[in-house]
Amino acid sequence: MARDGAVYACQSCGATQTRWSGQCPACGAWNSLVEELTTRPPGAMKPASKARTRQLPFEGLDTATPAPPRIVTGVDEWDRVCGGGVVPGSAILVGGDPGVGKSTLLLQVAASAARRGVRAAYISGEEAVEQVRGRAHRMGLADAPVRLAAETRLRAIVDGLKADPFDLVVIDSIQTMWSDAHEAGPGSVTQVRAAAGELVRLAKSRGLAVILVGHVTKEGAIAGPRVVEHMVDAVFAFEGERGYPFRILRGAKNRFGATDEIGVFEMGDAGLAEVKNPSALFLDTSGERAAGAAVFAGIEGSRPVLVEIQALVAPSAYGTPRRAVVGWDSGRLAMVLAVLEARCGLGFGDRDVYLNVAGGLRISEPAADLAAAAALASSAFDVALPQDCVVFGEISLSGEVRPVSRMDGRLKEAAKLGFRRALGPLDADAGGALAPPIAPMGVGRLADAVQRIQDARWTPGGRRP
Ligand code: TYD
Ligand code: MG
Repeated sequence: MARDGAVYACQSCGATQTRWSGQCPACGAWNSLVEELTTRPPGAMKPASKARTRQLPFEGLDTATPAPPRIVTGVDEWDRVCGGGVVPGSAILVGGDPGVGKSTLLLQVAASAARRGVRAAYISGEEAVEQVRGRAHRMGLADAPVRLAAETRLRAIVDGLKADPFDLVVIDSIQTMWSDAHEAGPGSVTQVRAAAGELVRLAKSRGLAVILVGHVTKEGAIAGPRVVEHMVDAVFAFEGERGYPFRILRGAKNRFGATDEIGVFEMGDAGLAEVKNPSALFLDTSGERAAGAAVFAGIEGSRPVLVEIQALVAPSAYGTPRRAVVGWDSGRLAMVLAVLEARCGLGFGDRDVYLNVAGGLRISEPAADLAAAAALASSAFDVALPQDCVVFGEISLSGEVRPVSRMDGRLKEAAKLGFRRALGPLDADAGGALAPPIAPMGVGRLADAVQRIQDARWTPGGRRP
């Protein structure tokens, strides 16, 4: 029987239960329920005394609200993902795998902001002050007036932040913070939630911008507490493929800006360098394009990014053919394979399929469908696409190639990088004023695109519906 006021929080998903059990009923994790003491059972609210009852002040939708002021840190890629800088009084959670470069990024953000006169603090619960300082020296940031501290006790941190006026503080990481008001161990959901709650309250009450670093579990969720994602104003994921220097900061939630914006960085000896024009970063322009490769003209946030999609189709040695995909959604690959089979007669039932997005980029745009299909067909027929050709278009289950957003922007960027042809849902006059530099190879149906590749027919023309 549960004690009065006791709840059991799952350390894996954050769901709370009123009684203990060996397996979390919400997420199925074993041995993850840990007792949490609350002063009042959840949901119960004390009735307000008559004297203190105030009416809720309602407002209209059309009242003009000034845009929030922003703390511009000077790290442009970071500021862009924030929506133009960090909003004072907001809380941001930055998640990423261990070693991806979260501490490096946020030290650079804090240092750059401090150099511009922002009162910035960096509190590390993972490294000693000497270690952080040593890294700052190596990155050439030693002169930046960032206030450093190594601390994990929440009470000391909150007191410290109240005693000195700050504009921006980095907490690295939220999993190491620990409040003596709770009995649970550091890193538990209870502690992480308590620490995040306390710091978010401090942010709101003092107009201080708080950036929380969060580790990510194997499954890709920010470790332990999904709840923290709901408490903060913005959640960014810092991603990078092992073995590649590129790092991408991607907005997953942002109350003060768009979430499709990305920031691109390159990890080097002196920390992270900003990549201001990433369009050609993921493109290998050396040598001939091999069979099985297609250049996708993509859009990430507000910027065009060209990236090579590589496919390999090979006879399968086993009964169940393999499907392996890196940088793209495996469900999407299954769909494209099914459409190729059902609508174009190109079967993969006895063949292994490997699909790779070059450079360690992850793409999620449906516009990449046609590029993936073109790479697959190119490998299956062993016919290389022209060196100067980009591909884009969304594929429907009926086998149509659908127009995608910002086709002009994609063509313009491709033209700038020397491409002269485009395979996609294009009319003969696609590209408008750009028509001469980019010749459209328009396709209305996926079968048309597959036929073009099989015949190696690269003549320009508009699509037929
Ligand atoms: P770090 O910021 O400590 O990662 P996180 O906080 O996400 O765990 O970065 C760790 C990696 O970055 C480490 O493997 C070394 C590399 N690195 C560089 O390559 N160059 C640099 O200048 C720095 C500071 C780190
Ligand atoms: Mg770190």
